[in-house]
Amino acid sequence: MLTEARPRDVQVAEIAPGVLVLRSRTWDRLKFEVEYGRQQGTTSNSYLIQAPQPALLDPPGESFTQIYLQELQQHIDLSQLRYLILSHVNSNRLATVKVLLEKAPQIIIVCSKAGAVTFRSTLGEQLNLWIPRAETSLELGGDRRLEFIAAATPRWPDGLITVDPQNQIVFTDKLFGAHVCGDSLYDEQWKKLDEDRAYYFECLHAAQTRQVESILDRLAELTPPPRLYAPAHGPIVKFSRSRLFQDYRDWCQAQTEQDTKVALFYASAYGNTAILANAIAQALTAAGVQVEAINCETTPPAEMQALIHSSDGFIIGSPTLGGHMPTQVQTALGFILAEGSKTKLAGVFGSYGWSGEAIDDIEQKLLDAGYTLGFETLRVKFTPTASDLEKCQIAANEFAQALKKLRKSRTVRPPSLVEAQVDRTEQAVNRVVGSLCVLTTLPEGCFHLTQAAAILVSSVSQASFNPPGITVSLPQEWAESLCLVGDRFVLNILKEGSPLVRQFQQAQRLGEQQLATLGLKSAESGAPILLDALAYLECTVESRMNCGNHWLIYAVVESGELLQTSGLTAIQHRKTSS
Ligand SMILES: Cc1cc2nc3c(=O)[nH]c(=O)nc-3n(C[C@H](O)[C@H](O)[C@H](O)COP(=O)(O)O)c2cc1C
Repeated sequence: MLTEARPRDVQVAEIAPGVLVLRSRTWDRLKFEVEYGRQQGTTSNSYLIQAPQPALLDPPGESFTQIYLQELQQHIDLSQLRYLILSHVNSNRLATVKVLLEKAPQIIIVCSKAGAVTFRSTLGEQLNLWIPRAETSLELGGDRRLEFIAAATPRWPDGLITVDPQNQIVFTDKLFGAHVCGDSLYDEQWKKLDEDRAYYFECLHAAQTRQVESILDRLAELTPPPRLYAPAHGPIVKFSRSRLFQDYRDWCQAQTEQDTKVALFYASAYGNTAILANAIAQALTAAGVQVEAINCETTPPAEMQALIHSSDGFIIGSPTLGGHMPTQVQTALGFILAEGSKTKLAGVFGSYGWSGEAIDDIEQKLLDAGYTLGFETLRVKFTPTASDLEKCQIAANEFAQALKKLRKSRTVRPPSLVEAQVDRTEQAVNRVVGSLCVLTTLPEGCFHLTQAAAILVSSVSQASFNPPGITVSLPQEWAESLCLVGDRFVLNILKEGSPLVRQFQQAQRLGEQQLATLGLKSAESGAPILLDALAYLECTVESRMNCGNHWLIYAVVESGELLQTSGLTAIQHRKTSS
């Protein structure tokens, strides 16, 4: 961390004949967004190409507008500036562009087609725009020209990379950067940049590796090969070009090798939900989960459908606009509800202004469809604060842990040597798993909740849908006294990791004093509901079957309620060697 903050400034240097870099430098943490988490300051790099028809690339954001333009005018008469190239358009940068256009209205803006839509909607239809098409180049006069590579990603759908073939410079925008501030223009000290570069990749690109890999493929084809990568942030890449390129390849590959994958669907009209999405994606990546970000506004439906099938969980983020979620989020949610497996874990987040209907609506639809939520839904008013981002990280970690447990519980462990010697039939039978529940019932003559019988059961399954019915297997001695035909009981479904699981596993059946320490409320039948359970069902015994040392009880479910919206059902895994 830097000990003293130098004032912001703009550093200027020539990096090739007629190519200047203007580095707007901030020495302290720029914003609280996770990508600045290493607190090394950053630079916002803009480039000026001094040709007969000069071109300027990527002016910085609003906090630099004044000092940047002052410095720029030392190097060019603004009335001579012909082109302004935007590698991507964002609202912060638009503030500087606006001032620049006031001073130099002759400028032609060069950006991608998606960037042009943003420009026109914010600065008006009358703008002078030029959109590069495949195989076209921008002639700057003399022998100077620029070429372009489309670089759309979920995070920057309007991404555009500029190539200066004469100087063998590639202006890579968000690729190959680092949030560090210093006096070095180049990466002579590249070994010291390793951690910052890896963190930058994790925050900016790890959730969009598919798209990054195809951009890398395009860069690999460039002839002559690049001599410099000129990114939007941090040092210009000169000495570690091939090393960093290979790092990017390796980091992309490492993501696809994770054994759990989450599809992160989101849309964001003003950037707030996107900030939350980025924080969630970074924390999931750091927890060893592969994340595939899906910007619902730009991802084709077929791609969304494929991701629904190939992911182990979904997280959906949405703003609320006019009381609703945007149509594109609605489409994505529709695909998930229609095609997603209900055994996959889900999560919901979003930014809102006052009512937040979209977030509630998504959550309710997922719960109604039978999804389990891996974290408590995140609702954030307008722009996220540092504390909101911390909540995103906690939620993402919770989601990653739940996902991994879920995966483990579905993976059959290979038998150990000892296990291989014990009875194979018993081993096979013990592979059947059941959810851990506590059956509570108030025996005749008892009136207080703490006098109830409360027994841990693990052999529970749904037996009928209409009427909704379940079967429970009970040891003979309990079934004979507690669950006769017509008796009513409550089935409390326990949450994974809940202290109740351990408590009941140790005691099997809790006595009056122990029950008195639990949060209880009365069901209609008078039997206690455990308030810390995930959900409960109130049931009436319809029939019973004697099965060896157990009784199988079939009961009709009369009512039920979800007590917690997030968390997984606790499952009993029986030892295979006993
Ligand atoms: C045109 C418009 C309509 C909005 N309608 C609602 C609304 O009905 N309910 C609400 O809670 N917030 C509403 N908001 C506030 C947004 O949800 C809020 O600004 C949010 O941060 C936007 O998220 P985003 O930056 O990810 O797009 C509205 C905002 C705008 C600009």
